[in-house]
Amino acid sequence: MTEKRPVSDIGQSAKAPEVASHHQRWRLALDKVTQRVESLSHYRHEGRVTRATGLVLEAVGIRLPLGSACLIELSAGTGNGDGERFAEAEVVGFSGDKLFLMPLADTSGLLPGARVLALSGNRLDVASARRFPLGDGLLGRVVDGNGRPLDDHGPLEQLPHAPLETPPINPLARAPIDTTIDVGIRAINGLLTVGRGQRMGLFAGSGVGKSVLLGMMARYTDADVIVVGLIGERGREVQDFIENILGEEGLARAVVVAAPADTSPLQRMQGAAYATRLAEDFRDQGRNVLLIMDSLTRYAMAAREIALAIGEPPATKGYPPSVFAKLPALVERAGNGKRGGGSITAFYTVLTEGDDQQDPIADSARAILDGHIVLSRQLAESGHYPAIDIEASISRAMPAVVDTRRLRQAQGFKQMISRYQRNRDLINVGAYVSGQDPQLDRAVALYPRLETFLQQRMNETAGIDHTRTELDRLIPIDD
Ligand SMILES: Nc1ncnc2c1ncn2[C@@H]1O[C@H](COP(=O)(O)OP(=O)(O)OP(=O)(O)O)[C@@H](O)[C@H]1O
Ligand SMILES: [Mg+2]
Repeated sequence: MTEKRPVSDIGQSAKAPEVASHHQRWRLALDKVTQRVESLSHYRHEGRVTRATGLVLEAVGIRLPLGSACLIELSAGTGNGDGERFAEAEVVGFSGDKLFLMPLADTSGLLPGARVLALSGNRLDVASARRFPLGDGLLGRVVDGNGRPLDDHGPLEQLPHAPLETPPINPLARAPIDTTIDVGIRAINGLLTVGRGQRMGLFAGSGVGKSVLLGMMARYTDADVIVVGLIGERGREVQDFIENILGEEGLARAVVVAAPADTSPLQRMQGAAYATRLAEDFRDQGRNVLLIMDSLTRYAMAAREIALAIGEPPATKGYPPSVFAKLPALVERAGNGKRGGGSITAFYTVLTEGDDQQDPIADSARAILDGHIVLSRQLAESGHYPAIDIEASISRAMPAVVDTRRLRQAQGFKQMISRYQRNRDLINVGAYVSGQDPQLDRAVALYPRLETFLQQRMNETAGIDHTRTELDRLIPIDD
């Protein structure tokens, strides 16, 4: 009919671009103002705490990158330091506009609606990761999971600081494990020889001598620097480990990072990461480092606490899937550096609940480590220390660091022990008649000497050369 459109229609379509451009102008103007406000030196983004139940706090009104640090305001007169009114926290997750924050220390005194501030002023696009002290200035020191001194040997602010994250090493660039490391323990040096850059697990139930064995290694191992991470264990043990087990000579070339059970789960996880970071730093300076972590299980438990608190569903034995990803991520950071550089030989203790070797963390650790030393409760109870179950233990890098003759010798030793063990009951009741099995006869005759070889007092060291001479006397190598 007519090609003319109704007047009202014309009016609307003509108005639409006008409204849009009007909005656009406003938005541009607003953006400019925001940018200018944000660039003011005294301006800080801030959000509000909206929920505090359990371990995690929820905050709105602030956008921070995952893994970045922030400050939470506490009410006056509280906080974890003298007059300190802010608690540090880390962004551990988000959901929609809500941020999940995990405080690093106690947050008693937190008020509903408390302010949340970005740690590094107004740069929201950059993750403001915390920085930790590193380097030789830490030798002989005891620090917490935040890199703050626990001893009274002065502040650490003057030392070089760096974030905990480091880029992963290209697996092809890593030096192979090809030299032995002397750990000063006869049973390990002789039968479970460890290579520089190897990562071993120490699997045991509670109270069977893990800490004592680690302490002996810390004192006797042929390494330039020792880094000890005491993660999630009893607080009382920290002092005991430092004073009685490590001793003055051990501490002099060591750094101890202690995040005992009563610290926040984040601090425990961070403690393990920090100990690893320290070891990496020494390795990158070309040194041979011994890293001792007691315990990997408590690290996994801290990771579980955090993951469950931010709503990740539990999978195996209450452990959410992310925990099984975090373990290799931590362990892979140890090991050899680039060719010609330093090394990190690491020992991680793994708790086997009720001496159950099938615990999911134990299982996962066994798969990612280069060998395991199993401590047996039965041996410990009979007073056999270190209570290493030689039959159940293995060093996967041993074939790469010793020749085939030594390998055969160690196998011969193990076979003799297991032959004796299998017939132990018969021998004890006197039902065993010699002359029927020459191998068993030999095992029976040698057994007391084999047992003596495997035992070692706390304050006794057994170097690798001495160990080999003794081993040659017990099991002569046939060329
Ligand atoms: N080489 C050794 N010689 C003599 N006694 C030892 C030796 N190793 C361990 N012990 C004894 O075993 C006890 C427990 O050792 P330790 O504290 O190392 O066990 P643990 O496995 O670390 O225990 P937890 O699981 O409670 O941390 C020690 O107090 C000590 O009496
Ligand atoms: Mg212990």
